[in-house]
Amino acid sequence: MKVTVVGAGNYGSTTAHLLALSNRFDEIVMVDIVEGLPQGLALDMKQSRWVEGFDTDIVGTNDYEPTAGSDIVIVTAGKPRKPGMSRMDLLTDNAKIVGGIAEEVARTSPEAVVIVVSNPLDEMTALFQRVSGFPTERVIGQAGMLDSARFADKTAEKAGVSPTEVEAITLGSHGDTMVPVPSRVTVNGTPLREVLGQDDIDEIVKGTRGGGGEVVALLKTGSAYFAPSSAAVAMVNAIADDSGAMQPVCAWVDGEYGISGVYLGVPAKLGRGGIQEVVEIDLADEELTELRNAAEAVKEKQADINDLV
Ligand code: LAC
Repeated sequence: MKVTVVGAGNYGSTTAHLLALSNRFDEIVMVDIVEGLPQGLALDMKQSRWVEGFDTDIVGTNDYEPTAGSDIVIVTAGKPRKPGMSRMDLLTDNAKIVGGIAEEVARTSPEAVVIVVSNPLDEMTALFQRVSGFPTERVIGQAGMLDSARFADKTAEKAGVSPTEVEAITLGSHGDTMVPVPSRVTVNGTPLREVLGQDDIDEIVKGTRGGGGEVVALLKTGSAYFAPSSAAVAMVNAIADDSGAMQPVCAWVDGEYGISGVYLGVPAKLGRGGIQEVVEIDLADEELTELRNAAEAVKEKQADINDLV
C-alpha cells in the first residue's frame, strides 16, 4: 500500500515517520515545494530502517509524479498559526495552497482516500473535495481524534488517572464551535459527571477548545504536531485495515443529526473506501444544539470558499 504525505514540515514529516516506523506500508512519499527538504528527510528516515528494523521505501519529491497511484494521501501543507491567530486567519493563504494540491492529487491519485489536516480544517476539507471532485466519502478531515485526545488528556489529569482509562469524544468544528461531549465521557467506565464536578468539567471543555492555541502560544513559531500526527495515523490505519472503526472525523453530513450539506466533525466508521457511515450517537439536548449551531457557523464559512476557488 502506498501513502503520500503532502507537506514536509513538522506535521508531515512526523506523520511520515510514524507511518514508516509501523512497517505496514510498501511506500511512503513525501512531497513538498521546498527543494531538497522532502528528499533530505526521506533519506534520513530511510537510514533509521536498519536500527528500527523496518523496510518501507521512503521517497522525497518536489513533484507529484512519484506520488502517482497512492491509496491514501494526507494533506498537511499550508501555513500554521502564529500566537494570537485563529485558524480562520489562515483561510485565504491556505485555500490557494490546498486548492493547488487538490488538482495535483486528482490528476495523479484519482482513487485515493484523502485525509486533510490543513487549517482552517473544516473549510480546507470542503475545499479539497470541491476542487478534486472526489466523492465526499473519500475526502475526510482530521481534527476529531486530535481534539478528543486533548479532551481525554485534560480529563485524565483532572481525575488523576491515565488517559488510557478515559473515553472521550469531540464533535463540531476544529475551531471556536468545537463541541466536546461531556455526556459521552467515561473514566474507567464511570460517567464523567459522577467523577468530577461541573466546574471541573467546564474547565476541561474550555481547555479542550483552546488546546491547539495553548501549544501555539508556547511554541511561538508554529503549531502542534506530535498529537496531530498520531491522530492522522490512527485514521490512516483504520482506512488501511478497512476496520470500520468509529472515529470522530470531519465528514460530509447529509441528514444525520438533522444537519445537511456541510463538512463537520461527527463520528464515522472508516474503511478502504473512506467514510463507510456517519454514526448518530446519543447526545444530551444541549450538545445536539451546539452541534447544529456549529454546523450553521461552518456552513457559512464553507460557502465563503466558493469565492476563493
Ligand atoms: C492544532 C492544529 C494543528 O489543533 O490545528 O494543534
